[in-house]
Amino acid sequence: MKVASNMKRTVRSHTCGELRASHVGQEVTLCGWVAKRRDHGGLIFIDLRDRYGLTQLVFDQPQGEEFFETAERLRSEFVLWCKGTVRRRPAGMTHTHLQTGEIEILCSDLTILSEAKTPPFAIEDEVDAAETVRLKYRYLDLRRPSLQKNLLVRHKMLSIVRNHLDQNQFVEVETPILYKSTPEGARDFIVPSRLTPGTFYALPQSPQTLKQLLMISGMDRYYQVARCFRDEDLRADRQPEFSQIDIETSFLDEEAFFPILESMVQRLWKEILGQDIVTPFPRMPYSEAMERFGSDKPDVRFGLELVDLSEVFQASAFQVFQNALVTSGRGKRGSIRGIVVPGQAEKFSRKDLDDLQAYAGTYGASGLLWVKVQASGELQSPAAKFFSDAEKVAFKTQLQLAPGDLVLMVADRRNKVVLDALGAIRLSLGAKLHMIPKAGEGHPAFLWVVNFPLLEFDEKENRYYACHHPFTSPRPEFFKDFTEGKNLDAIEAAAYDLVLNGVEVGGGSLRIYRPDVQSAMFKLLGLSPEEAKEKFGFFLEALQFGTPPHGGIAFGVDRLAALLCGVGPIRDVMAFPKTQKGHCMMSESPSHVSPEQLVELGVSTRVP
Ligand code: AMO
Repeated sequence: MKVASNMKRTVRSHTCGELRASHVGQEVTLCGWVAKRRDHGGLIFIDLRDRYGLTQLVFDQPQGEEFFETAERLRSEFVLWCKGTVRRRPAGMTHTHLQTGEIEILCSDLTILSEAKTPPFAIEDEVDAAETVRLKYRYLDLRRPSLQKNLLVRHKMLSIVRNHLDQNQFVEVETPILYKSTPEGARDFIVPSRLTPGTFYALPQSPQTLKQLLMISGMDRYYQVARCFRDEDLRADRQPEFSQIDIETSFLDEEAFFPILESMVQRLWKEILGQDIVTPFPRMPYSEAMERFGSDKPDVRFGLELVDLSEVFQASAFQVFQNALVTSGRGKRGSIRGIVVPGQAEKFSRKDLDDLQAYAGTYGASGLLWVKVQASGELQSPAAKFFSDAEKVAFKTQLQLAPGDLVLMVADRRNKVVLDALGAIRLSLGAKLHMIPKAGEGHPAFLWVVNFPLLEFDEKENRYYACHHPFTSPRPEFFKDFTEGKNLDAIEAAAYDLVLNGVEVGGGSLRIYRPDVQSAMFKLLGLSPEEAKEKFGFFLEALQFGTPPHGGIAFGVDRLAALLCGVGPIRDVMAFPKTQKGHCMMSESPSHVSPEQLVELGVSTRVP
């Protein structure tokens, strides 16, 4: 069929990443964006780009005056259709780094489908534009091959996951976005209801109660690539709106459940990166993770482990140490802990140490004490004068110190502050000393962290919080204590996190499935029966209609994708991420709404 001359031809025979030497001699049509243009007077070269790659086009004036004039008008990011013949590039002009590098297209026809304004930054991987500009023009940023690759990896990841879960009898069920508050420890985003003025939906922080209700409904095995919304302070690995691979199953315990999850992760690393991952993944109790690494998501790829020095200094003359070891009203004692940095005593200046101290301060530590082992074996430290000879010997022996070693210590009566501060210092030292493989390098270190505490006591508010969420079951051996309200601080939860290279990629638990136990939990968390009824009445009622034992997990899609792509911040694997302040630079949201809309919703605002 002949195409009418005024109709634009938009169909291509091949993509820009497809043509090889085996196509030489064929007539082809291509569509794409102008990535680069080189004008040699009478001879124009265009690199044509699409999602699949780059192909070099050649416009040679003698081949046709009419379309050569059009070719002269081409500029960066114009969209074009062209026809031509595939030919081999001249000897010495081939590009081995380009899949289409052996060929070029000698064009015989050309249509400009769309013209383009000059883009605010060059569309190439080595881009130096500010991130705010790139986010404002995210659709242009997304033309860059590296970001396109990230979205493709993310897509492939989800398609492998869907396949795997489908093969294991999991059914994808969509759950509502306009819903009720679900407790995951963050603030809710809320949406006013027009039809019932004065009332609000909450966007789900996760589909936690909904997936449990699906177990009560007999779905048996559920999953969903679910959107979650949390109004919390943002970081490189936290967005206000993110996705989970959300999973729930009935009649399984960890021993039966973990292999399904581990083989899913194994498939991802094999099929996307070609890497073999050994299963089962190691399991580490929470207490060990905290004691050794000062973190519930330990990066186990390097040492610099924490050492408890409380015994060495239990009779110390140093006031700071004495204060740390005082037993608090709740029977808890603080601690003195340190990290040995072998051979680095001379490499850390006063400024380096002051910076580290300031960093420890952001975790609540009132100081960071340093000790350097001198060539003579003497200990040099601002606190050395308080150390007795016996303490010095015990200190050196326990830490197996050698001349040139540096020890960094934190002492506090709040054990958690000591662990958190040293955990953060450890990571910062690991990075500074290049002990942590760069994103995308090295072998992945998967790890289950298990046996989390069930409850955490908030001294300020004088109440307990659920460490995971209030639906998590105590481990069976702690059931009696839990129902009797005894030894609450020591009760362990049937909760587990999957950690990869120091990133929490997933978290889940076995759930409470008895209504009386769930009510007891709400009570422990300080909810009055009325509050429990108002917030979770529907859920408590549902538990009374025949609830199977069940449990589940949710993986962070964005975090997993970032790790598979070998990038740091999760916004690099999200099509339209928000800034640290939760803004969408492109659409300029959040934004004001009209007074009429507010009246309709029965909402009034008071902007400070
Ligand atoms: P949790 O709150 O641990 O568990 O979340 C599960 C996983 O989701 C990811 N994640 C995030 N990713 C990006 N931005 C965020 N703001 C963010 N918050 C969490 C993390 C985390 O491991 N309902 C439970 C799961 C369950 O018990 O089954 C839940 O949501 O990778």
